[in-house]
Amino acid sequence: MNQLFSIENIDEVKPKINQEIENLRNLINKYDFEYYNNANSLVSDKEYDVIFRRLQDLEKENPEFASQDSPTQRVGGKALGEFNQIVHNKPMLSLGNTYSEEEVADFDRKIKEALEETPYQYVCELKYDGVSLSVKYENGAFLEAATRGDGFKGDDISANIKTVKTIPLKLQSEILPEDLTFEVRGEVFLNESDFIRINEQRVENNEKLYANPRNLTAGTIKLLDPKEVAKRQLNVAFYYLDSEKILKSTHFDNLQFIKDLGLPNSPYSKLCNNLEEVFEFINYWDKHRSELPFQIDGIVIKLNSIKQQEILGFVARSPRWAIAYKFEAEKAITKLNNITLQVGRTGVVTPVAELEPVQLAGTVISRATLHNYDFISEKDIRVGDYVEIEKGGEVIPKVVSVILDRRPEDSIKFEFPTYCPCELKSLLIRPEGEANYYCENPDCPSQLKRRIEHFASRNAMDIESLGEKNVEILINQGFIKSISDIYELKNHIDELIKIERFGQKSIVKLLAAIEESKKNPLWKLIFALGIRFIGEGASKILAKSFKNIDEIAKADKEKLISINEIGEKMAESIIRFFKDEKEQILLINLQKSELNFTSDSYSFHTKSLILQDIIFVLTGELNTITRDKAKELIESHGGKVSGSVSKKTNYLIAGENAGSKRTKALELGVRILSEQEFFEILKKD
Ligand code: IVH
Repeated sequence: MNQLFSIENIDEVKPKINQEIENLRNLINKYDFEYYNNANSLVSDKEYDVIFRRLQDLEKENPEFASQDSPTQRVGGKALGEFNQIVHNKPMLSLGNTYSEEEVADFDRKIKEALEETPYQYVCELKYDGVSLSVKYENGAFLEAATRGDGFKGDDISANIKTVKTIPLKLQSEILPEDLTFEVRGEVFLNESDFIRINEQRVENNEKLYANPRNLTAGTIKLLDPKEVAKRQLNVAFYYLDSEKILKSTHFDNLQFIKDLGLPNSPYSKLCNNLEEVFEFINYWDKHRSELPFQIDGIVIKLNSIKQQEILGFVARSPRWAIAYKFEAEKAITKLNNITLQVGRTGVVTPVAELEPVQLAGTVISRATLHNYDFISEKDIRVGDYVEIEKGGEVIPKVVSVILDRRPEDSIKFEFPTYCPCELKSLLIRPEGEANYYCENPDCPSQLKRRIEHFASRNAMDIESLGEKNVEILINQGFIKSISDIYELKNHIDELIKIERFGQKSIVKLLAAIEESKKNPLWKLIFALGIRFIGEGASKILAKSFKNIDEIAKADKEKLISINEIGEKMAESIIRFFKDEKEQILLINLQKSELNFTSDSYSFHTKSLILQDIIFVLTGELNTITRDKAKELIESHGGKVSGSVSKKTNYLIAGENAGSKRTKALELGVRILSEQEFFEILKKD
């Protein structure tokens, strides 16, 4: 790295550097604030990058001036092993829900009574359909962020929330007292366009889709790697301020003050003088909510005066001074043109409604799920019917009812097709007691396509160039008839190059990714095989509990269910899979292709994976357990034990008379656990 300043005049230079760092931070904070809160670019992207990099360099060269609230620290820390817990100053409560105007009127009547006719106002706010969040500032600087959790304590998601650009790490405002410490609460959410973008990427990577922006938000704030979070573009709207010093006398003024502090609030909140104005707000947003860039699921009505809020108080875990009016899911009526079948990788057949395209919640809908046979027959849904469809924030809308008045006279009851829609037209079978039909022909091309897509997907064998489109081509052109054919593709280079979509370069890339996948850890292969009911977690457990695939194949039901987290249904499915002759041939072929069949995580006494990937160091005298036993215990829960403390260490377990390792851990900021605290962690399992 280049020295930014020469060593000779260091005493003179250091204060100057500190000043420059401070100036750069203030400048970047100002640019960020304007850009993310007011959509205002004060400088070009290039200029911004230059000063950002200058700050990064100066901080790297002068670590003594490092600061947690520097804008460079938004995506600072390393990936976490797990979240710490934060106990809330006051419990995080929820709201009572209503679905009708009468109930809102009832809420208003109770308030009027309790306030004995003194005048009052309401604040109406959008009810963001996201995840609630608490953020604390100490002396004007970001301190920590927590999820709601059980209402009393939540996960410490500070590292993730610091990646949200609208959240200042240091408050800018001049209106603040120096030592300002306070808490704000609000909702973290994703815009619909980001939700769609992320799901589209997931389609490409063959990853499971998120059902709605809320689920995606919840998944995002719980990611263990802040760098991944930063890519997702989270937003926050704060709607509550708690502070000893700066509390105003009304909620509306608090909302304004949140904004004055430089924190994001909702620009849509409105002060209402009476119930009519409240209904006006409700009706306006019920009609216009699809125009918002994010999803809302209702309106929150809050008493404005804080004193009056105190008079009303709380009932159970909700305030009496506020209520949520929930919107009905958006609905539309359209014609059901056809019912088609979709075949999944396990052969499960899902009926899909092919609809006359109709506008619903801002998008045009032409398909909806019909779930399974029972769903269709209970509602007596028929081709040609007019149906009511609903979009409750989910990607795939649902058919909720049939408009019987509009049913054509000649309509006939829907009979579930007897045969699979693929070319082989195999008989569909409905196992006793199940709502689903299955295509049980293992040669079914629809199933094969899904199986290959799953096998190659990121969390399974992670063969990057083998996405949906390429899989389809390779199957249609006869190159892939079974999973094991993936590893035979290298013998067909000349023919593959002739396929229009593939050039030499992409074939090389594909074949390299396929070769690379042979080295994957065993759990990825187990997951990739697509054994029914065996997801990622169970695959990891199996790889920890058996030395290799052969041992799993040999295991009987008793042995399988003796493993924590492997239930009866899973055990039966594993046995069925390994008994199947076709699967046996597949495994022989995969072994011939030299895929990794051996576990590198095998430990005969795996109890759980609660400590997966967490690195411990043991030191001092432990009271209740020997060192060896503690090591065994950690490993049996998926953790690792290392001999010395380094930056990679997650926890030091320090017994009595701990010495130099403890000092090193303190230096490096490694968390130190007492023996007692360590057992507390394990109890959570
Ligand atoms: S006030 C004590 N205001 O809805 C009441 N909540 O159960 C605190 N929400 O958990 C909540 N937008 O996650 C409030 N403008 C808003 C909101 C809002 C969304 C969520 C919040 C809360 C749930 C209500």
